[in-house]
Amino acid sequence: MKIILASHNSSKLTEFRTLVKGYPVSILGLQDIGFEQKTEETGDTFDENALIKAKAVRSVTNDIVMADDSGLCVDALDGAPGIMSARFGGLGIGDDDKNTRLLDLLEKMGDVDRTAAFHCSLAVIFPDGRQELFSGVCRGTIAKEPKGTNGFGYDPVFIPAGERRTLAEMKEGEKHAISHRGKAVRAFLCALFTDCVPEASSQTFECSEPSHSRKEVGGG
Ligand code: IMP
Repeated sequence: MKIILASHNSSKLTEFRTLVKGYPVSILGLQDIGFEQKTEETGDTFDENALIKAKAVRSVTNDIVMADDSGLCVDALDGAPGIMSARFGGLGIGDDDKNTRLLDLLEKMGDVDRTAAFHCSLAVIFPDGRQELFSGVCRGTIAKEPKGTNGFGYDPVFIPAGERRTLAEMKEGEKHAISHRGKAVRAFLCALFTDCVPEASSQTFECSEPSHSRKEVGGG
């Protein structure tokens, strides 16, 4: 089964390909289908932005299209950077600088609660026009300093609940077992196939809310 991932982020593409390993699914990136334009993320929520990205690519293909909108929500910053995670500090700012900016902001606030959560909304549009949203949450805390070189984005400053290491210090498989994206993708795979385990190894990483969900949002 061919699925187009509506993202120009090569790190996400790599994660998705790893996450669907073992399933009869092959994921193509936008480069593979020659889709070069950037879609403006004008929504107010992860769900809205994921749907906007999926719909833009759906207009040029009849294959299954999926789009992920994700980000880091820090409680002490009222949920920021949230949907602005990729643009935190301005467009074109690298991951290291974003992490420094985040750590500086929290440092200036003094002894604050450093709890945070990664959110992932996965919008999927099927060939018959059906649209569904899958989501995953990974709770944790913001570290005092960046650690680790694996992963991407805010991984070096995020310590998942129940862990001492940042996501960037964990092996790829360890991250996928607990990550927001891993949970959303497993919820999606469960909707497509029956023989899968939705929460691969979430027992050690309890969340205070359902860590993944699915909803149908219409079609057309
Ligand atoms: P978007 O979904 O492409 O708008 O951007 C999501 C942004 O959130 C990324 O550019 C990263 O900065 C951050 N992000 C999303 N998922 C992860 C993750 O798994 N690890 C680290 N950072 C992430």
